[in-house]
Amino acid sequence: KILILDFGSQVTQLIARRVREAHVYCEVHPCDVSDEWVRQYAADGQLKGVILSGSHASAYEDSTDRAPQAVFTLGVPVLGICYGMQTMAQQLGGKVEGGHKREFGYAEVRAHSHTALLKGLQDFSSPEGHGMLKVWMSHGDKVAELPPGFALMASTPTCPIAGMADEARHFYGVQFHPEVTHTVQGRAMLERFVLDICGAQPDWVMQGHIAEAVESIRQQVGSEEVILGLSGGVDSSVAAALIHRAIGDQLTCVFVDHGLLRLNEGDMVMDMFAGKLHAKVVRVDASQLFLDALKGVSDPEQKRKIIGKLFVDVFKAEAEKLKASNATRKGAAFLAQGTIYPDVIESGGAKSKKAVVIKSHHNVGGLPEQLGLKLLEPLRDLFKDEVRELGVALGLPHDMVYRHPFPGPGLGVRILGEVKKEYADLLRQADAIFMQELRSTIEPNSGKSWYDLTSQAFTVFLPVKSVGVMGDGRTYDYVVALRAVQTSDFMTADWAELPYALLKKVSSRIINEVRGINRVTYDVSSKPPATIEWE
Ligand code: XMP
Repeated sequence: KILILDFGSQVTQLIARRVREAHVYCEVHPCDVSDEWVRQYAADGQLKGVILSGSHASAYEDSTDRAPQAVFTLGVPVLGICYGMQTMAQQLGGKVEGGHKREFGYAEVRAHSHTALLKGLQDFSSPEGHGMLKVWMSHGDKVAELPPGFALMASTPTCPIAGMADEARHFYGVQFHPEVTHTVQGRAMLERFVLDICGAQPDWVMQGHIAEAVESIRQQVGSEEVILGLSGGVDSSVAAALIHRAIGDQLTCVFVDHGLLRLNEGDMVMDMFAGKLHAKVVRVDASQLFLDALKGVSDPEQKRKIIGKLFVDVFKAEAEKLKASNATRKGAAFLAQGTIYPDVIESGGAKSKKAVVIKSHHNVGGLPEQLGLKLLEPLRDLFKDEVRELGVALGLPHDMVYRHPFPGPGLGVRILGEVKKEYADLLRQADAIFMQELRSTIEPNSGKSWYDLTSQAFTVFLPVKSVGVMGDGRTYDYVVALRAVQTSDFMTADWAELPYALLKKVSSRIINEVRGINRVTYDVSSKPPATIEWE
């Protein structure tokens, strides 16, 4: 395995994804782990190399984070990226200089030496015959003096030491970012580092993972019972399918219908899990409870809090009921959750110290302790794309596994202001039309549907009325906004340039088929400054 130490860069997760794409297992841990922790981590001989990530933007002003010195004495290769290279230079006796103008964007790097990391890699050659690489740079400080033992590996006119290598110890540093796609040979460099230089085995593949995961779930659970909150989203669905594969009827899924789901969603979830997979699923219709609690509430954060808390209460009550009905048995001993690796990094990584809460996200944190349950999180090691691959391998339908994300509070944050059943019903119908048309309209160049070409698409209900005409009469009805965005990380997003013909069809279908809506608009705001959701 490969250890990635996170200094808080926004692209640390990308490093991990690139390594996984080379089929090498890796883990991300915060940069401030202790020397003792590192030595323990490496003690079983499985650790093949270490990558030190970049830092977050404000760290250009004097970050004092250092890598645990032990990573340099383990005898395994180390690759420092951006800030990771700078701290490596400093810790090994070189010099870093600050106070430079920030360099940000594309750069052309001249590869100086025939190091194992860069040998043979080039995007073009300079008139003098040097290998040149197109890379992405984002830094203010830079390495001014090489540490003893290191040779120059790459440079640009403004950054004379853009890469350094100590081939005897297999230590490498690059000032640019190989993990982003803008660095053309970046993937090749990371692959070369983990496979050739570290000698890690490319044995991380999905089918093998299923067998391993099933075995480890059986080991962990033994003969006890597991309860899981099924939402119909990708993560909880894949977790349910995997755990069901491992322990069958020892798993009970609880599906809380808060009445803020999309059209027919509840039936589809039941059909898939109870009908096709023959899993035990309890469906709790709590929609009236949620509507009552939301009555008169229009503040988005308050709505989120109410929905989140009530969700936990309903789930808890259901868990207690199951326990009572199982009087002869012990009742559930485990709570299963579809936590995935980015969630783990978010909550434990260096980033969380600096993260700013813009919206409080709905989750069930704290639930296992309240219920006296142990946690079972079989997707903890996987990235989203790996979770999807796993879902397909477990036989879940493509449409379920490749769904757009859907927020926990559901339509509760897509009905602006106060939530009413009437609004939710209108929104459900309009949104179903939008989804149908997105799925059935194929973009000819890629052969993909517009649903697959967008990262998230949905309809927002605006509780305002506007005037229209229908036949001979005047109408005075509600407005909806269509939203479709393209993004790779949901931190920034562009509004999708959907074809006019598609928008036209969706609009005319909604206005004709959904009585109560007479106007459809398209949201052309990017994030930032707008967010993806309207609340
Ligand atoms: P924003 O609106 O902040 O959304 O640009 C970014 C991503 O987060 C999702 N989102 C939520 N997910 N509970 C969730 O589980 C929430 O309260 C929530 N609010 C936003 C949003 O759908 C998008 O994918």
